[in-house]
Amino acid sequence: MRVIKIFDTTLRDGEQAPGCSMNLSEKIEVAKRLEKLGVDIIEAGFPASSSADFDSVKAVSAAVKDSVTACLCRCIEKDIDAGREALAAAVRPRIHIFLAASPVHMEYKLKMTKEQVLNQAVESVKYAKKFCGDIEFSAEDAFRSDPDFICKIFAEVINAGALTVNFPDTVGYAMPEEFGRRIRYVKEHTSGIEKACLSVHCHNDLGLAAANSLAAVLNGADQVECTVNGIGERAGNASLEEIVMSLKTRRDYFDADTKIDTTQIYSASRIVSQVTGVKLHPNKAVVGDNAFAHEAGIHQHGVMVNRETYEIMTPQSIGIPQSSIVLGRHSGRHAFEKRLNELHITLDDETFEKVFTQFKDLADKKKTISDRDIEALVLDNTVSVPETWKLDHWAVNTGSALGASGVIRLQHKDGKHEKFVSMGDGPLDSIFKAINKIIGREPELELYELGAITGGSSSQGESFVKIAFNGRRWNGRGVSTDVIESSIKAYLSAVNAMEYELGIRG
Ligand code: KIV
Ligand code: ZN
Repeated sequence: MRVIKIFDTTLRDGEQAPGCSMNLSEKIEVAKRLEKLGVDIIEAGFPASSSADFDSVKAVSAAVKDSVTACLCRCIEKDIDAGREALAAAVRPRIHIFLAASPVHMEYKLKMTKEQVLNQAVESVKYAKKFCGDIEFSAEDAFRSDPDFICKIFAEVINAGALTVNFPDTVGYAMPEEFGRRIRYVKEHTSGIEKACLSVHCHNDLGLAAANSLAAVLNGADQVECTVNGIGERAGNASLEEIVMSLKTRRDYFDADTKIDTTQIYSASRIVSQVTGVKLHPNKAVVGDNAFAHEAGIHQHGVMVNRETYEIMTPQSIGIPQSSIVLGRHSGRHAFEKRLNELHITLDDETFEKVFTQFKDLADKKKTISDRDIEALVLDNTVSVPETWKLDHWAVNTGSALGASGVIRLQHKDGKHEKFVSMGDGPLDSIFKAINKIIGREPELELYELGAITGGSSSQGESFVKIAFNGRRWNGRGVSTDVIESSIKAYLSAVNAMEYELGIRG
């Protein structure tokens, strides 16, 4: 049986999509979950694109031990230099370089001839090869390129030292049967291809990214590039969970599988959704809330008699925890630890103690604690940065006849307390303005969302904010039984992420 490599680009192609940005600590946490999931390659970012990307590739390189850590570079020496520097700590580094090869990209974007593109691709691979043994070359917009030109570039970059050649459908234009045929053509007409790994990278503009990737596997592709939950530019990238579960569920058809531990899929999907704030459609294949729900009576009856009547894969196979215990005020350490295991969450001893104490506090306020409550507590303690500002106390005054006013007292990490009162357009506006006065910056609030972690009036409020300052963005989450407090916590956590990163990098 063939083993298809999974190249995950959640932290690069996924993260560069609008609304999907992640902070440094969030990227490190996602990278750790990807490694646990067993992806072969983690693409951590595009170091030359910004100092934030450079830092995250550096940090992910240091955190990841088993998977290959890759970073994207244009065919420019300074990009490759930034890439190798950012990857310096990686145990298994890969430099991924790309250059467009389609007529429209060459003429209008690059203003280069075919000969120039070929020459630059080869020279860049040779340059990168001096610093890194593992080089991947991507011919951007390969599907809309002349197939023989692609075969020629691939043959020459393989000759120059590329170990992987990647064939992207950058704009999601291909149809599955057509894409499969093209991959077969490339496999049969590229000299030296047997020495390299043939990869595909599909976008989902027509909803066919997973289908096209799978058609490529049937026709000889050895590696598939994808993202968790299918996040990515425009309609997204091919979704990791759809490809992996298709290969697993239909092993009989593909005669191929992956090294992914599928029981980690659900927790990887949850963390990506939580840190980006991008919620999944309930019908999203494999990981949507309804993916395993049977509503119609006839289906429910069938599943009760024999699951296979309407279920082609089990929720357990992707790691959806099966409720065995209800957690509440009387639950002890042992029950809590068991539930964390069922949720595929591993914590070091110190973090476990913190989360457990917070769990007990929460259980005093709420009758039952849901998995989502636990996830929120864990996230708070794993992707958080050192707090520059801590919430001390707050109060708001609001009503239909009066404007709103808020007062907040924060404690700085140096120990001093600062208090400010502000008027505003509603309670949150007044409090956020007061916070801005204390911190001495005015970040723009780009997104504010408030939801309930679970249904019912005893649910905790969960707030999510995105703030922007000097062209950079930070996310923040906050959870509380009081929705104003959850919003303040979310805003402060974004502010702390901002202060921390500005403190490191200025
Ligand atoms: O979609 C694309 O072509 C890419 C390449 C840079 C691999 O993301
Ligand atoms: Zn892409």
